[in-house]
Amino acid sequence: MHIHRFEKLWIGLSLFLIACFIGIVMFGFTVLDLKVPGGDRSGKTVDPKTVMAEGPFSNPGVREAENGEYDVYMLAQKFLFRPSSGQPLVLPKGKRVTFHITSPDVIHGFEVVGTNINAMAIPGQIATFTTIFPKTGTYGVICHEYCGAAHHTMQGQIKVVPASEYDESNLVSTSAN
Ligand code: CUA
Repeated sequence: MHIHRFEKLWIGLSLFLIACFIGIVMFGFTVLDLKVPGGDRSGKTVDPKTVMAEGPFSNPGVREAENGEYDVYMLAQKFLFRPSSGQPLVLPKGKRVTFHITSPDVIHGFEVVGTNINAMAIPGQIATFTTIFPKTGTYGVICHEYCGAAHHTMQGQIKVVPASEYDESNLVSTSAN
């Protein structure tokens, strides 16, 4: 069978591209140790059946960590964020804040409008990331993953205040742990 010279060239290029794509994926998973989005980089998992009854997620909210940093334990659930729906989640400006987000029911999204903060809340996994809010103001929070009939109502707010105005009343009691 005669194959035209250009036909061979295109077949060759296509196979080469496919080999490149497979190579890139293999390189990412092995050498760079990448994980799928929403996958938990810290290796921490949680039982979605008991997450609301025990551990830090049973008492979601802001905790003060060492070195003037903060941790936020957040539940994304049908159809609200705890904290941040109803009452805004209040955070200090310019401080390192580490979010820990999980879901007790179905997959939700967590996006802070106007920022690059964007995570998936997957039952059984804890999404963890650290950020700093450089400006005061009120930020909208939305769920960007279809999660059921009231998905479009699933939203919240983050209110960033000057660090000097941030006080203990914004923190959850840790005695519940
Ligand atoms: Cu939660 Cu959409």
